[in-house]
Amino acid sequence: MLVFASLQELTEVDKELMLAAIVARENAYAPYSKFNVGAAVLLENGETITGNNQENASYPSGLCAERVAVFYAGAKYPGVPIKAIAVTATSQKYQVDLPASPCGNCRQALSEYEQKQNKPIRLLLMGEIGEVILCSSVADLLPLAFNGSFLG
Ligand code: THU
Repeated sequence: MLVFASLQELTEVDKELMLAAIVARENAYAPYSKFNVGAAVLLENGETITGNNQENASYPSGLCAERVAVFYAGAKYPGVPIKAIAVTATSQKYQVDLPASPCGNCRQALSEYEQKQNKPIRLLLMGEIGEVILCSSVADLLPLAFNGSFLG
């Protein structure tokens, strides 16, 4: 895991991916939590797919930004490996200065794609301002992950 002081420290490719996540974040539908999350997925074919959290009055019916983005990527470009995902969060109530931290369900969903493609997915995590965390693999965020091999 690497920690960068700010967005400006990233490589051009990573910065561009995070900027796409920031744009997506602004379009989040988060009237209940007021917590907007944006995600941008970079695919091996060069395409970038974005997503944001989509909430629902029946809370569990909503979905996180990361899963909206990877599910859409999987639906549109099945079989194309994911190189990286950038995630950023902001709040309509306070300034988020800590890097976004994918929830357990999203870690599990991302882990599935990493195992399926048998190649690590890089993660870039950022709040609204401040440090950016770079993880070289989803496995770093989900040790002892449950996976399809348990199902026989
Ligand atoms: N959320 C995400 O989109 N990604 C995460 O990894 C953490 C949480 C969303 C879900 C919900 O819409 C709001 O943030 C508050 O939990």
